[in-house]
Amino acid sequence: MGLPDGFQWGVATSAYQIEGAVDEDGRGPSTWDVFCREPGRVRDGHTGDVACDHYHRWPEDVRLLAGLGVDAYRFSIAWPRVQPAGRGPANPSGLDFYDRLVDALLDHGIAPAATLYHWDLPRPLEDDGGWMNRDTAYRFAEYAYLAAERLADRVSMWITLNEPVVVTAYGYARGVYAPGRTLGMAALPTAHHQLLGHGLAVTALRGRGARAVGVTNHYSPARPADPSSPGDRTAADTFDVLLNRLFTDPVLLGRLPDPAADGLAAHVRGQDLPVIAAPIDFLGVNYYQPTWLRAPAPDAPLPFEEAPAPDGLPVTGMGRPIVPEGLLSLLRTLKERYGPALPPLYVTENGCSFPDEPGPDGRVDDDARVDYLDAHIAAVRTAIDEGVDVRGYFVWSLLDNFEWAEGYHPRFGLVHVDYATQRRTPKKSYAWYRDLIAAARRA
Ligand code: NOJ
Repeated sequence: MGLPDGFQWGVATSAYQIEGAVDEDGRGPSTWDVFCREPGRVRDGHTGDVACDHYHRWPEDVRLLAGLGVDAYRFSIAWPRVQPAGRGPANPSGLDFYDRLVDALLDHGIAPAATLYHWDLPRPLEDDGGWMNRDTAYRFAEYAYLAAERLADRVSMWITLNEPVVVTAYGYARGVYAPGRTLGMAALPTAHHQLLGHGLAVTALRGRGARAVGVTNHYSPARPADPSSPGDRTAADTFDVLLNRLFTDPVLLGRLPDPAADGLAAHVRGQDLPVIAAPIDFLGVNYYQPTWLRAPAPDAPLPFEEAPAPDGLPVTGMGRPIVPEGLLSLLRTLKERYGPALPPLYVTENGCSFPDEPGPDGRVDDDARVDYLDAHIAAVRTAIDEGVDVRGYFVWSLLDNFEWAEGYHPRFGLVHVDYATQRRTPKKSYAWYRDLIAAARRA
């Protein structure tokens, strides 16, 4: 069958992971600026202070995008640049940066896909409880409105939230990401408040003329470590609800999945669910790997425990199992689970890290990344042939960048970054992806 007309090939990044320039043009502190300064939080004390210096080198990065021939570029807008204190009027110089970037992308025929929240919450909002506080949802919608007021005439796709489940699970339940809180299941209100923020933002964005609006979720097919163990199967089902359904059922179906509903009901007010279920134009899907689960110990804080992947699976540099079939099964599951309620899908992230370094000839031969991407793109093609409506695919990431608590150690880029010199070196996978895009366009 082949790819649908207008299928978009892209790459993705996010503000805190590449921009640096954390004190410039009126940017305020984010939760990640503070978290990185707390000893022991980020490997080797790395911070996003400089990152890929994209804030200053963006023209070079746009040239790299143009050389790749992508149809679309997914980046994120830093809320602390737009509203340094998380509330109040827009900081015009913060928005100027994205204004220039969007214009440059359009000059090269690249469609801008903007994510509004990729985890860099203005720190003053965290001082008031962050996503535990319902008010943050309203602040988020206000910020979305300000961003759209400036950019909606030119941005093609708006993504409200990136992987809200990671904010809840890693940021508030387990404390391994900013803001570093360890609330366990008591972090559930952060799920509802992010969802509410998403719904309110959809309405705010449309009010300012946004063309296409959606949300990006992290998905990981849940697999029982031992399929014959009832405890492991229950753990996998619970994980599936909390990870794969909690942020999707309310948006697409207007209801909370059981059993999460019990823990959340107290936080859901009158019209919240219809607000959250405001129609969206697409669903963003981030896929990296399946997760294997087993029954938790009796006094464990969470109702499941992650188990090691089965022996023998190949892994990435971060030890993540490489399972392209997981992407196919995920796309099939979304279609089966949501049926006519499922909007068109975009794979808004997929990629892998390896310890890539230039060889003596200066080249970065990342054959393992080429193999990874090739296999996952094949899975997307199969899903499309089977009738899943996938409209685009974005590689994570254009550049090696700040991988959160792992600092700069994992390298996810199609382009190598030498952090000492900020020199960019396109890897073998960059040329491979460029050629793939060109060939797909000719087909
Ligand atoms: C998902 C996140 O959105 C992104 O920020 C992160 O770098 C990648 N996964 C890779 O782990």
